[in-house]
Amino acid sequence: MSKHHVSTTINGEPTEFLCEPQLTLLDVLRDELRLTGSKEGCSSGDCGACSVTVDGRLVCSCLMLAVEAEGKSIETVEGMAKGHDLHPLQQKFLEHAALQCGFCTPGVLVASKALLDRNPDPTETEVRYWLAGNLCRCTGYDKIVRAVMDAAAEMRGASV
Ligand code: FES
Ligand code: FES
Repeated sequence: MSKHHVSTTINGEPTEFLCEPQLTLLDVLRDELRLTGSKEGCSSGDCGACSVTVDGRLVCSCLMLAVEAEGKSIETVEGMAKGHDLHPLQQKFLEHAALQCGFCTPGVLVASKALLDRNPDPTETEVRYWLAGNLCRCTGYDKIVRAVMDAAAEMRGASV
């Protein structure tokens, strides 16, 4: 099958790849570009483990064809830390022990960042509603929500 040439931007870096037309963005991120932070949980848009942002919109990369990334700006969990400096959300997830097996964590972090980029001061209800598409089999969600609220407060310069 012939391959398509795609030019995109991933985590701020101009990126080009060749891909077959049926491959998903998640396939290419993980198998071609070796960005394995995004996880494949369900392949059907139900678990959120594959979450990335595309031009600032939160999407399930398992539901997007890789060729649709042409000309787009993609952000993955690998783009959150700056060198050795963790994003405040990552730091608060560690402090609150908001992960156990960690499989859901990249998607939850990407989704949480997308929320705080839109709404720096969400209520607990808003956090829970926003993260309803990110399934976690381990934590019971409370620690995740506390970590997001704490990160939001820190990013606003407030304390909780
Ligand atoms: S792997 Fe994409 S939503 Fe589950
Ligand atoms: S920490 Fe295991 S699925 Fe969320």
